[in-house]
Amino acid sequence: MSYSNNLDPHTASVHAGEQRPKPYNALANPIFQTANYSFENTQALRDFVDGIVERDKYGRYGNPTQRTAERKLAELEGGEQALLFPSGMAATTIALLAYLKAGDHIILSRECYKQIREFAVTVLNRFGVEVSQFDPNNLFTLEAKIKYNTKLIFVETPSNPFLSITDIKRVVQVARPHDIAVFVDSTFATPINQKPLEYGVDLVIHSATKYLAGHNDLLAGVVIGSKDAVEKVKKLQAVQGSIIDPNNAFLLWRGLKTLALRVEKQNQSALEIAQFLEDHPSVKHVYYPGLKSHPTHQLAKEQMTGFGGVISFEVDADDELTGQFIDALQIPLIASSLGGVDSLIEQSWLISYAGMSKAQREELGVGDNFVRLSVGIEDAQALIDDLAQGLSVLDKVGALTA
Ligand SMILES: Cc1ncc(COP(=O)(O)O)c(C=O)c1O
Repeated sequence: MSYSNNLDPHTASVHAGEQRPKPYNALANPIFQTANYSFENTQALRDFVDGIVERDKYGRYGNPTQRTAERKLAELEGGEQALLFPSGMAATTIALLAYLKAGDHIILSRECYKQIREFAVTVLNRFGVEVSQFDPNNLFTLEAKIKYNTKLIFVETPSNPFLSITDIKRVVQVARPHDIAVFVDSTFATPINQKPLEYGVDLVIHSATKYLAGHNDLLAGVVIGSKDAVEKVKKLQAVQGSIIDPNNAFLLWRGLKTLALRVEKQNQSALEIAQFLEDHPSVKHVYYPGLKSHPTHQLAKEQMTGFGGVISFEVDADDELTGQFIDALQIPLIASSLGGVDSLIEQSWLISYAGMSKAQREELGVGDNFVRLSVGIEDAQALIDDLAQGLSVLDKVGALTA
């Protein structure tokens, strides 16, 4: 028996998708560490081949531990089915390959994860798929890019690093009359803050490495949607072989039990920290959709139930001083990625935009003083105090040079 749909986010995080009772009456989900499955006799094999019995055959087609995590993810997101992958990139690239063929055209948000744009421009294009990008803050540019062969629109909302919110309802309205599929990368939102399937998108994608797993200890990715939409991707996965390890599926499932708790805390802390940063004289600009000053604040309020745990901001400093501010911090760790229980901070050009020329990243709006903070579950006031003492490094230099 599966528990039930329509639970509040906290109860759903703990109970959604759970089998009752579990094998051997275990309370925790067993890890089925097996590559293949045996048949009792030839008749059992025949029954499986004839479709009389549904069961496992070989690990590349799925594992019971993986399915437990998938059931919970599907219920949390409000989808019929979920499919796990060993990383967010694996989930995204296989889903794109499953939906596109030579001669098709895809339109991506120019603010979606840069490796996804890289995959489209280098790999998809090499296999005959035309690629365009649109400005997610101006959906007229999306309509203008639609062509007779457009088959897919790919959106990331909130986006990285500016946390812009794209109007999912409007994107679906634009796509539907042309029979164009819509994928939404909802990694920064999680199903606790946003439910893109309610607007009629075809697939929701997450880098489950981030909030869903939540502890910075594994890589995973997931696609969620209707049974038909997910099965299309599953067929390709079965021959392509990007399969999540049962141990990682277990850790992800365990992490999901506290998803609502973690995300709620991260939403609250990030809002308080964003407000503190916005009022600080050594901070030039803060990008956080929960702030009234954010250009898509109104849309965020309509589309989301929380604003998320990532804040980007520009300090009033040059490259070296920005580094000094970050080095003065005691709590956040200097690292890429986001969404885990530990707060992480990056001087973005050195991590997320490394390898890009200064001119290219400045054109995107990422200067030397651009910082991204992923707020963890530490005490909000402790983080604010730490940021205040870090920023005082800048005040002192300002006073010396004044
Ligand atoms: C929004 C978003 N989507 C997808 C990915 C790719 O996920 P993964 O690193 O799990 O492959 C990332 C990684 O940073 C991301 O931030």
